[in-house]
Amino acid sequence: MAKKTIDDLGDLKGKKVLVRVDFNVPLDKKTGDVKNDRRIRGALPTVQKLLDAGAAVIAMSHLGRPEKATPEERKVLTMDKVAARFGELVGRPVKKAADEVVGPAVDAAVKAMKPGDVVVLENLRFDPREQKNDAGFAAAIAALGDAYVNDAFGSCHNDNDASMVAVPATMKAAGKPRAVGLLVARELEVIDSLMTNPKRPLLGIMGGAKVSDKINFINALLAKVDHLLIGGKMTYTFLKAKGVSVGSTRVDDAEVEHARKLLPHVDMKITLPVDYVCAKTDDLNTTQVFEGPIPVGFEGVDIGPKTLAHYANKIRQCATVIWNGPVGWFEKPAFSAGTRGIAEAMAESGAVTVVGGGETAEAVEQFGYDSKMTHVSTGGGAFLAYVEGKPFLSLAQIDDK
Ligand code: 3PG
Repeated sequence: MAKKTIDDLGDLKGKKVLVRVDFNVPLDKKTGDVKNDRRIRGALPTVQKLLDAGAAVIAMSHLGRPEKATPEERKVLTMDKVAARFGELVGRPVKKAADEVVGPAVDAAVKAMKPGDVVVLENLRFDPREQKNDAGFAAAIAALGDAYVNDAFGSCHNDNDASMVAVPATMKAAGKPRAVGLLVARELEVIDSLMTNPKRPLLGIMGGAKVSDKINFINALLAKVDHLLIGGKMTYTFLKAKGVSVGSTRVDDAEVEHARKLLPHVDMKITLPVDYVCAKTDDLNTTQVFEGPIPVGFEGVDIGPKTLAHYANKIRQCATVIWNGPVGWFEKPAFSAGTRGIAEAMAESGAVTVVGGGETAEAVEQFGYDSKMTHVSTGGGAFLAYVEGKPFLSLAQIDDK
């Protein structure tokens, strides 16, 4: 059933709107500077629309994993720099409400807000109750707003996060409306149409390291796509499963078991690379392209030129392309040709092109092709889970139209 969007929230003049955003952005580990603000930019249309309607916005997000951080690492995970960057982008001063996540100082700061004001709550995960769907914590947050907006697609799969589930549940009990923001609405629309009624041929491209992390995603794709091209580290897992030597490429045996289950699809729906760029393990500057077995002393770092040409050709023949996972070690310029080439072929294909979030989105952006794709998701794990068809408790909380 269709969900309420911010257009269905009624008159927002003078209202305070709680917006769950996903400002879990990459930070410089030492300075805490925001390294990539794509997710902040992604939330701007919703925030702007709410402000234009006369609302004040209380934005809230988690940042990193403070529960696993050392005290030193934790200091960097405060929201101050994210709030400052958000302020620059939204074109008005944005402050953190207080150093505490909830409590009297936050209540006072929110009480003083006027229409057009924007505050950000401190990193939600600084309070351990956030990841336990704690009712008391949720009630303290829910009391701050007159309406709730979920614009945090990247977090929609987090069923235990109070800001995603318990807060909107508490707001419902208080009769306050709950809607999705423009970013979430667009993500759902694009992925839903991709999975239910794609223009064919539909091509999937899968990269990344672990087959086990993506096994459900691969199976979900196999059920929908006409072809699935494999790249990235998982290539070598498949090769090992086929009994082909991977030289000195490190491949986890448990991963090989997962790949083995998919072998019946290889050379049917699944295509594996025919050549790979390999680097000398003791001297990464020395590379060689191999077809077939990789000799000991070399490890695979990118798809090879024949594979790239073949994959680019496939991309040109398809009407829709969905891509998740870099096909090589793209952070190193010498090993980035495959990932760059896939991004370029997609950008120039004229097909509907959908890129999963996380490092695939980073790669596409790094090579300057992000604006040429139909859609670049802001979700990493959420993108995979939504494509797999996992129901999200967070979305179940949003009011139906
Ligand atoms: C993400 O970056 O995928 C989301 O912000 C969720 O973060 P998490 O993996 O720490 O729950």
